[in-house]
Amino acid sequence: MKKHHAKLAEEFYDKIIKLHHKEFHYEYLQYVKWLDLLASKLSKEAVVLDLGCGNGRALKYFVDKGFQGIGIDISDKMLKLARKYVPKARFYKKEFTQINFNPNSIDAVISFFALNHIPKTEFKKTMNICKKILKKYGILLLGMVKGESEGLFKGFYGKKMELYGAGYSMSEIIKVLKLSKFRILKTGIEHFKGKYFEEDDVYVLAKKIN
Ligand SMILES: C[S@@+](CC[C@H](N)C(=O)[O-])C[C@H]1O[C@@H](n2cnc3c(N)ncnc32)[C@H](O)[C@@H]1O
Repeated sequence: MKKHHAKLAEEFYDKIIKLHHKEFHYEYLQYVKWLDLLASKLSKEAVVLDLGCGNGRALKYFVDKGFQGIGIDISDKMLKLARKYVPKARFYKKEFTQINFNPNSIDAVISFFALNHIPKTEFKKTMNICKKILKKYGILLLGMVKGESEGLFKGFYGKKMELYGAGYSMSEIIKVLKLSKFRILKTGIEHFKGKYFEEDDVYVLAKKIN
């Protein structure tokens, strides 16, 4: 049975797809310098997995550079756009904790503003799964909305629909990653102002150490 927070996210993102696609299109990636940094650390044939890939804009960056891309997302409408705009990547409809790639098979896992839509206990589980599927010295790049609160909220994109949201501090993310045996390589906090919202975002680049 689908988890409540995942069902809410599926319904929400299917509904606001047009607004989201306008705000987060392919020509503008607010986190491009983090993608550049990750790309500089990957070998030519590297496989990059994007958790909550949305319209596939981050994967397009990697696929255009010749890397292999895999995206998972819970929203059918997001996946439809991703398949259309990034045909060379593979996309699957999956919830984060359902991913079942082979152990030690992925070179890099990326995720931007998607793991904020699951409870914090699920975030810990997801990081353990990432550790399992990443190759030795595989890399993890996270972009997470900074904040303290966790729970159901309304008003995202001006809509009355409910959505699950969990904000994170830098130290909280680092603590979870260290418990999952990642070594932190670089961190940063950046301000984002879009048409629909304004926020601080925490970025963490980490490496699987064993
Ligand atoms: C804010 S969007 C970010 C999309 C993309 N990462 C980007 O940077 O443009 C969050 C995405 O996470 C997906 N998502 C939310 N909860 C999810 C879950 N439990 N499992 C899989 N995908 C989920 C949504 O469908 C949505 O596409």
